[in-house]
Amino acid sequence: MADGAVRSAKRAGKLANLCKALDERPGGDGLETATTGIGHTRWATHGAPTDRNAHPHTSADGRVAVIHNGIIENFARLRDELESAGVEFASDTDSEVVAHLLAAETAADVGLAAAMRTVAGRLDGAFTLLAVAADEPDLVVGARRNSPLVVGVGAGEYFLASDVSAFIAHTRDAIELGQDQVVTITPKGVEVTDLAGAPAATTAYHVDWDASAAEKGGYDYFMLKEIAEQPKAVADTLRGRLTDAGEITLDEVRLSDQDLRDVDKIFIVACGTAYHAGLVAKYAIEHWTRIPCEVELASEFRYRDPVLDRSTLVVAISQSGETMDTIMALRHAKVQKARVLAISNTNGSTIPRESDAVLYTHAGPEVAVASTKAFLTQLVACYLVGLHLAQVRGIKYADEVAAVVAQLQAMPSKVEAVLATMEPVRELGRSLGTARSVLFIGRHVGYPVALEGALKLKELAYMHAEGFAAGELKHGPIALIDAGTPVVCVVPSPRGRAVLHDKIVSNIQEVRARGARVIAIAEEGDTAVLPHADHVIHVPRTPTLLAPLVSTVPLQVLACEIAATRGHDVDQPRNLAKSVTVE
Ligand code: F6R
Repeated sequence: MADGAVRSAKRAGKLANLCKALDERPGGDGLETATTGIGHTRWATHGAPTDRNAHPHTSADGRVAVIHNGIIENFARLRDELESAGVEFASDTDSEVVAHLLAAETAADVGLAAAMRTVAGRLDGAFTLLAVAADEPDLVVGARRNSPLVVGVGAGEYFLASDVSAFIAHTRDAIELGQDQVVTITPKGVEVTDLAGAPAATTAYHVDWDASAAEKGGYDYFMLKEIAEQPKAVADTLRGRLTDAGEITLDEVRLSDQDLRDVDKIFIVACGTAYHAGLVAKYAIEHWTRIPCEVELASEFRYRDPVLDRSTLVVAISQSGETMDTIMALRHAKVQKARVLAISNTNGSTIPRESDAVLYTHAGPEVAVASTKAFLTQLVACYLVGLHLAQVRGIKYADEVAAVVAQLQAMPSKVEAVLATMEPVRELGRSLGTARSVLFIGRHVGYPVALEGALKLKELAYMHAEGFAAGELKHGPIALIDAGTPVVCVVPSPRGRAVLHDKIVSNIQEVRARGARVIAIAEEGDTAVLPHADHVIHVPRTPTLLAPLVSTVPLQVLACEIAATRGHDVDQPRNLAKSVTVE
């Protein structure tokens, strides 16, 4: 906003493109003296990622500008209505309808905030909207439904953002907004109402990390910094939750012991990397608690009529707490009367807020799009939930549970030990930059680790990568292997169930016989794999169920190095967003 007029600048692609365009503009357009502004990095839903479709969108008279995160499901009907009234659209987005609707409302002199309440009430779907208007230059209006929006409260300044990390350098005091609320910020303060205009109750909170946590701190990429932070993230997530007597205290899990004893079935719902954490959790939870546990992609869950009732525990895992697929899965579970426990890294986000109980991971802010430290802390939280359930229910593995508690305490230093030996992995990564495809195999909890290794490589290096249960190879995928195909094998501990170890050594021999270049992730002291592997990456001795905490780390480093070798933006891979707030 400048001189009582709205000016906008937008560019497709990286933020640097916009900065360059702004630097090159002739000036004198009043932008230097503007005091109110809105901006948005768009993840394309309707319309290609082009300059024309970038935000903000402005009304035809240029007096209202809007940015939008989410999807407006009834936009086609609204667009038809506006076009019939003679409005010409300048983009292919669903978001632009909001600019025109706001312009129509403000034309009746109701003010931008009242206009936003009316317009938000007409929208279906998910939205975080911010708007400014030339007639009210000191005002920014926001609205939210099913999509995140937080208010930052600084000294004489206010911020509106999807996530606190956007304003953490300015303030650590924030206000979380509820569903269907409209917020205004002006030099005088913050006001929050519902869509009818009645003042709304809000929750203020203080963020317990600071700006340095959201900076690179000397690393080339956020991802490398976040990989290095994993020992601390694991320790922080365990802190205060294990007692010296080998017990688990999860005070913040607001489900009574009786509620937990009544659980007869568990569903874990999550997406992407969080789903892989859930797959690992299934092995641990079923073993320790003997409660049947299903793991389901959140995007599939509510579309297949799962059998849920009051004694079902649904565990929703989400780093951001804002993943729309997971939100919709948990809402479906609640309608069916199941109890929902959230595992999340984001205080006050939608998933913990809407769940019956929450166990926060303490990974700190994860800035790189590819999840690393959040994954390890999700594993830790899942172990804690499994052990807590086992303890409350008094199962037969009580001794084993106490032993696992002690072993968990040792995990931060084991992750540290893995990180200290990553140079050969980086070297290996550099040699794999030109591979056409990389396969990952594992058994038991090594199978989800293989899936996670493949996902990291796909999203960062844009390479064909697949994870398989090693036993499935012979049922089809082994046909993919030809001379030199890299196959990463996640080898279970030979000290655990020997049969698992023996089986994967056979699988390694099978792929080697077909020309594969074998990269084995194996426990230190495991000499049986040495004759069959081209490269062996050793990880510290760890009980089988906890092994993903160490065996995932080299795969993260490998994917990061291969992506960097191929010249990709490791922190912001193409086509991806950190928080996926659309279904
Ligand atoms: C991959 C990755 C994604 C997320 C997924 C779920 O590296 O980060 O697969 O794990 O989008 O996100 P959250 O955990 O925020 O629900």
